[in-house]
Amino acid sequence: MKKALITGITGQDGAYLADFLLKKGYKVHGLKRRSSLFNTARIDHLFAPERNPDNQFTFSYGDLTDATNMTRIIQDFQPDEIYNLAAQSHVKVSFDTPEYTGNADGLGTLRLLEALRILGMNEARIYQASTSELFGKVQETPQRETTPFYPRSPYGVAKLYAYWITVNYREAYGMHASNGILFNHESPIRGETFVTRKITRAAANIALGIQSKVSLGNLNSIRDWGHAEDFVRAMWMILQQDEPDDYVIATGVGTTVREFVQKAFACIGMDIVFRGEGVDEIGVLDSIDGELFEREAGSSPDHLKPGQTIVRVDPFYFRPTEVDLLLGDPTKAREKLGWEPVRTLDDLVRDMMKSDMRTTRQAKHLREGGFKIFQCVEDVL
Ligand code: NAP
Ligand code: GDD
Repeated sequence: MKKALITGITGQDGAYLADFLLKKGYKVHGLKRRSSLFNTARIDHLFAPERNPDNQFTFSYGDLTDATNMTRIIQDFQPDEIYNLAAQSHVKVSFDTPEYTGNADGLGTLRLLEALRILGMNEARIYQASTSELFGKVQETPQRETTPFYPRSPYGVAKLYAYWITVNYREAYGMHASNGILFNHESPIRGETFVTRKITRAAANIALGIQSKVSLGNLNSIRDWGHAEDFVRAMWMILQQDEPDDYVIATGVGTTVREFVQKAFACIGMDIVFRGEGVDEIGVLDSIDGELFEREAGSSPDHLKPGQTIVRVDPFYFRPTEVDLLLGDPTKAREKLGWEPVRTLDDLVRDMMKSDMRTTRQAKHLREGGFKIFQCVEDVL
């Protein structure tokens, strides 16, 4: 039985990857940081007795900023494969916490690699969660493995260090260390402050009368959005190669934030049109497909009126330096790994909307029943 250590086990990708590896028969150990509230909602189902009869799935407390615990955990668990997914992963937040982001996202990777070297475990394979943010102010489109890097945030710069230290340990010590340069990937369990999930949650809240509009930043921004379930499969495929290497993982389809808004609301029959420019741009409800709305929302759209503003722009969400366009070329991954995404962007949006409509309906139901459910409707990130 192969053993995999996953850092960032409580995050979106950690949860999907753990599920994927457990189904493949791996023994999986997660590194989980201490938090004042439970933070295992994404992985709790994997601990259910029927899914975990022989304790194939375990975790330890730890933090990428603490070399001692990582060395101890690796020594105790003796993993065959390590997936380094832990990171302060929010680009805008990295401008507020640049030193911490550098420590966790940059030096954290070094600590893992050094732990392997100190323990003489050079044969363990390691995957580094690199990112399309490395391309930042893009030097060519689409971006591929050979495109020069130009990161535009403390997050991107920290990940640049992590990328190169991974390459360096591969070349210096012969480690099987690889980078997956992953473009944006989303899912129903995506963090609520990333733009896709913020939009799908807002659409569900607006449909059910809990929220009236959503404030967003740069609507022109283009991202290559894929489904996280497809992307964690690529991580595993990278580590199954005889030789370590670096791969762009992307769908090759670019979409603006504005278009993502329209796709999300269209899933529930709400047609959004955009008017105006810059900070004065608004997204307005043009029309409603009543039948589709009632089917998806389980209630009538009487509280919604064509002409009402649904989206506004708030400069609070702008970044000091923005990455305007990310669009990947996954040719190398297709040709060398045989990887291709199974889900389209429309599948992804539908998947996210269905899930957010379901949870919002449940929350509303509980609230109407007198339970105190606090739902964050005015997002702060
Ligand atoms: P995520 O949902 O934000 O999860 C990040 C994980 O890292 C969480 O488990 C978090 O713990 C943990 N973490 C944060 N700081 C830590 C620290 N100092 N020590 C230990 N654990 C720490 O991110 P994701 O979307 O799953 O992304 C996974 C990785 O891929 C990240 O490295 C991200 O930068 C990278 N990436 C993501 C994308 C994308 O589009 N999703 C694209 C390219 C690269 P808590 O749960 O306690 O916060
Ligand atoms: N978060 C957020 N909130 N972003 C907004 C908003 C908003 O209200 N309005 C517009 N945007 C724009 C951002 O300015 C950015 O251009 C784009 O939407 C996507 O933002 P995020 O969803 O926060 O993701 P990201 O692209 O900055 O970073 C994600 O993808 C990277 C890979 O390219 C993260 O998952 C990173 O960890 C990952 O490395």
